[in-house]
Amino acid sequence: MENPKEKRLTKKDRPKPIDEEIIIPDDLVLISVTNPKGIITEVNEIFSQISGYSEDELAGSSHNVIRHPDMPKIMFKIVWDHIMDKENVMAVIKNLAKDGRYYWVVTDFVTQVDADRNIVNYTAYRRPVHDRVKQAIIPLYKALCAIEDVAGMDAAEKFLNDYFEERDTNYDDMVEEIIVKNCDKTAALGFGNHPEKTIKKMSKEKKQSLFNKLFGIS
Ligand SMILES: Cc1cc2nc3c(=O)[nH]c(=O)nc-3n(C[C@H](O)[C@H](O)[C@H](O)COP(=O)(O)O)c2cc1C
Repeated sequence: MENPKEKRLTKKDRPKPIDEEIIIPDDLVLISVTNPKGIITEVNEIFSQISGYSEDELAGSSHNVIRHPDMPKIMFKIVWDHIMDKENVMAVIKNLAKDGRYYWVVTDFVTQVDADRNIVNYTAYRRPVHDRVKQAIIPLYKALCAIEDVAGMDAAEKFLNDYFEERDTNYDDMVEEIIVKNCDKTAALGFGNHPEKTIKKMSKEKKQSLFNKLFGIS
């Protein structure tokens, strides 16, 4: 995809948000690939359709053009800290479409490395989020944004760490728990009434494949 420098979209191009949600059909996956600096190099057609931007507009642009103001900064710091360490991570994200509407996705960030373990690119696979997952995460994100507004991102990071410590959990486990607890599909997948117990014992690879099953990717 080609996009001359002057046409690249940045956060200055963001539309004014409107309070209207785009509901993404269950079976869709929105994919984008970036270079190591986070500049978009490729998107799939679904990403283009849902975000409202053409593939040409997105190529060469920064991902923050779709960043929604309701998203706490600290969530992106967590994502970047993981992927720069070559660790895959999931995040529940509210994104801004070109027309100002919003859509929720759970995003699976994957880092690709070359034979020398240098980062080649990052790929984001986004799937629709169950309503109950949104309801579980919205109050936390509201609290984090409010803290960032008055006291900055470090204060939000501290709040989040205290939040995890109190609950004896961490970011990865929290996302997993919210998703598992709120996903009826786990029962159908044979994890019984307490899927969280089985899942806690799984290796990272197995969890990844569980995530894929939950979201319909084989
Ligand atoms: C592969 C990949 C996909 C990303 N997808 C999104 C996304 O869907 N929405 C978003 O707001 N930020 C996304 N980001 C994070 C952005 O690069 C950026 O950190 C974020 O929008 C916050 O931007 P800001 O710090 O300039 O406000 C993604 C980053 C990578 C590497």
